[in-house]
Amino acid sequence: MVATLLAMLPVRASVTPPVDLAAGIRDLKRELNAVILAHYYQEGDIQDVADFIGDSLQLARQAAQTSADVIVFCGVHFMAESAKILSPHKQVLLPDLAAGCSLSESAPAEAFAAFVAAHPGHQVVTYVNSSAAVKALSDWCCTSSNAVAVVEAIPRDVPIIFAPDKYLGDWVARKTGRDLVLWDGSCEVHELFSASAIADLKAAHPGCTVLVHPECPHAVRLLADVVGSTKGLLDAVRRGDPLGTYLVVTEPGIIHQMRKVAPEATFLMAPAAVRGQEGACTSCNTCPHMRRNTLEKLWWSLRNRAPEIRLAPELIARARLPIERMLSLG
Ligand code: 13P
Ligand code: SF4
Repeated sequence: MVATLLAMLPVRASVTPPVDLAAGIRDLKRELNAVILAHYYQEGDIQDVADFIGDSLQLARQAAQTSADVIVFCGVHFMAESAKILSPHKQVLLPDLAAGCSLSESAPAEAFAAFVAAHPGHQVVTYVNSSAAVKALSDWCCTSSNAVAVVEAIPRDVPIIFAPDKYLGDWVARKTGRDLVLWDGSCEVHELFSASAIADLKAAHPGCTVLVHPECPHAVRLLADVVGSTKGLLDAVRRGDPLGTYLVVTEPGIIHQMRKVAPEATFLMAPAAVRGQEGACTSCNTCPHMRRNTLEKLWWSLRNRAPEIRLAPELIARARLPIERMLSLG
């Protein structure tokens, strides 16, 4: 009986991804009127198939203004959430829903709400690397591109909580001369860069330009020629010596675009300390969350229109305010 019933079910050809994944992705993208947004930390193959590549701020802007019906976000969960918050009526896909972020996870919403309640009268500035629920508790959002400008937009006599990245917060405090109340969060990738190994590399390559993301600790930032967001560091290469040597102290996915703007320059990946001891490990500097996305998962996500980011409308409405306030700064 069971066998008879099974025989009556329609036979489905099993689907396999095409050999030329990039071509398959382009076809599906056209079919769905989808746009692919990719962060600079994605693997090179994903960057090459994307419609827009950028830092968190650039991608948030693209998400806010796209006319596509579907946004496929090749980045991490908080970035795709921001896209959904800014384009609530569009379908937002993330090729791997488990692509999280240690910084975002370092600030659980409940504990953060208690922290905010313990600091009455403070304006709350939250780095975009945070959950929608934490954004909903904030007055302002910021990215590493505009964190200084956001803090400077707040009158000097108003106290400020800055969360969740204590290192970015420390950098902003030093740049603005403001005394910020910092949440104790950090990025597991940038926190691991080894100041002593970078100093050694710098000495071995006299004249090299050291490019550092502000999520790094102060001891690492002290070695920098340029501190900036991923876009800021890419711009420094664009403006810099086309034959120069660059020591890149951030996730090495960005080097894919750096090589495009300066094909004859030399790029050195900064070493990270091995957890718990000083050493030179050049694979600890890749973000395990960003790298969960692959070209094949991107194809599947277009093919299945999943996994999808879903947020409650009330959460979207509340979390949108600090992001829009940030974007209105220009
Ligand atoms: P950017 O905004 O500089 O691209 O940084 C995002 C990020 O996650 C850095 O770790
Ligand atoms: Fe989060 Fe760090 Fe990865 Fe950026 S590099 S997504 S801050 S874990």
